[in-house]
Amino acid sequence: MVKKVTVRTLLRKKERGEKITMVSTYDYLTAKFCEEVGIDAVLVGDSLGMVFKGEENTLGVTLEEIVYHSKAVRRGAPTRFVIADMPFGSYQISVERAVENAVRVIKETGVDAVKLEGGEEVVPIVKRLAEAGVAVVGHLGFTPQKVKVFGGAKVVGREEQERDRVLKEAALLEAAGAVMLVLEAVPSDLTKEVSEKLDIPVIGIGAGPYADGQVLVFHDLVGLVEEIKPKFVKRYLQGAKLFKEALRAYKEEVEKGLFPSEEHSYDG
Ligand code: KIV
Repeated sequence: MVKKVTVRTLLRKKERGEKITMVSTYDYLTAKFCEEVGIDAVLVGDSLGMVFKGEENTLGVTLEEIVYHSKAVRRGAPTRFVIADMPFGSYQISVERAVENAVRVIKETGVDAVKLEGGEEVVPIVKRLAEAGVAVVGHLGFTPQKVKVFGGAKVVGREEQERDRVLKEAALLEAAGAVMLVLEAVPSDLTKEVSEKLDIPVIGIGAGPYADGQVLVFHDLVGLVEEIKPKFVKRYLQGAKLFKEALRAYKEEVEKGLFPSEEHSYDG
């Protein structure tokens, strides 16, 4: 029987110096792939705003959508550590609203943890959630829900002040009870320092090789997203090309009357 991945499993991996793998995805089938190959953690990321819904950024993602997709991912990856992203607006209004929404996500979807973006300003929320028994994953560096404030995607931590802030906020989030931290778009040496300073696992995306683990969006890593390829994305498959080849072959066979053949018909 495959063992359930828990917070303790991930902590032990960090302690042993074993890298943690995480994939962000939104549906049952791709979550099942993650389950079958033993990806440690599956994130139902609010990147679904762009990747699934075709929107410009993550800001339009709703709590209902996160609940819907998290249920599907949970079904596909029953033994993986599944994390649901708290969407923009679901935790910033008040600590009470944040707890209410996070508890709803946990109760309705069965995910293991919720993730929320931000530093010092979310510390009281993380603390309250941890006290309430909710496992929380933090997210520092470039935080896409603040894209309008950043003015676009940006590497965070090249300047001394930003660097000190990331270090300070990482420690604050850990002290508040966060069980894991995602670091996005920060220089490798800063990731190294944060990972060494914290006891909790640090998962990087565009944060170099020194994090305790890595996360990529499924659709990026299988090459389904053709329009943009950030520097940190590695395509392990030419997915879009292969899918389009299959679609063209299907279209051609239907148009030429070659599909369905006898093999695909209920005759006899
Ligand atoms: O929304 C998402 O998929 C994420 C990861 C890229 C870290 O937050």
